[in-house]
Amino acid sequence: MLKIEQLRIAYEKFGVEIEGATFSGGLNIVLGPNGGGKSTLMRGIIGYDEPGIKVRRIYWDDDPLNGVQDTISYLPQENPRFKISVADYLTMTSERVSGSAYSAAVERFDISHLTNQSIENLSGGEFKRVQCAQLSIEEKPVIMIDEIEQGLDLKYQHEMMQWLRREAPFRTIITSMHDASLALTYADTITLVRGGRITGPMSPSAVTSEMLSVCYDLPLEVERRSGSALVYHRRL
Ligand SMILES: Nc1ncnc2c1ncn2[C@@H]1O[C@H](COP(=O)(O)OP(=O)(O)O)[C@@H](O)[C@H]1O
Ligand SMILES: [Mg+2]
Repeated sequence: MLKIEQLRIAYEKFGVEIEGATFSGGLNIVLGPNGGGKSTLMRGIIGYDEPGIKVRRIYWDDDPLNGVQDTISYLPQENPRFKISVADYLTMTSERVSGSAYSAAVERFDISHLTNQSIENLSGGEFKRVQCAQLSIEEKPVIMIDEIEQGLDLKYQHEMMQWLRREAPFRTIITSMHDASLALTYADTITLVRGGRITGPMSPSAVTSEMLSVCYDLPLEVERRSGSALVYHRRL
């Protein structure tokens, strides 16, 4: 359980102000327009060297979250590439990696054919899968991913969400994304972020067409069918 008692970040022209938000174990998805504050919120949770942080009272299981190396695996929105093989990249952020943990991650993310390549030469979607495999090997209690579906085709978007669903009973996952249909289909909770303020976390079933329309400043409709949700533009 990751609890934000208070987080206040102030840049020159933008601020985040959050009080009393708790992300419980499970898949917590953050939605919101470009520039709404999703990435700033995640950097605020991490806390290191974020210049605008004015107040940061965040707890992990009732202990102040100061230093996240044992707690959070974090995948930022942009990740620089450099010359390193996929195999070395997968294990470089974990101390001891068992052969079985390595093989399981390689298989789960369908990257066995890539392990000898440099990460510089992967497509966007391949690199994303390699990054998520690296996180899964770290086995930390919190996984935080900024824009998870970026670069992934339809099949891998669903596979990635299914991976998170399988991890959800054992971890606290916080991920931002743009695909509201995918989010409402897979999430345990949804948090809407706009103008540095949040609504939620709340059950996906509590998210209404009106809430999304206000959040994105667009006439949106939510339709729920057996097991999945569809968000579409009302006037098309
Ligand atoms: N280091 C910074 N200094 C000043 N403004 C920033 C900084 N980082 C982000 N911002 C501003 O904060 C706002 C929210 O950005 P961001 O959190 O990246 O939004 P999102 O991830 O929801 O698209 C934007 O207006 C952005 O320009
Ligand atoms: Mg962002």
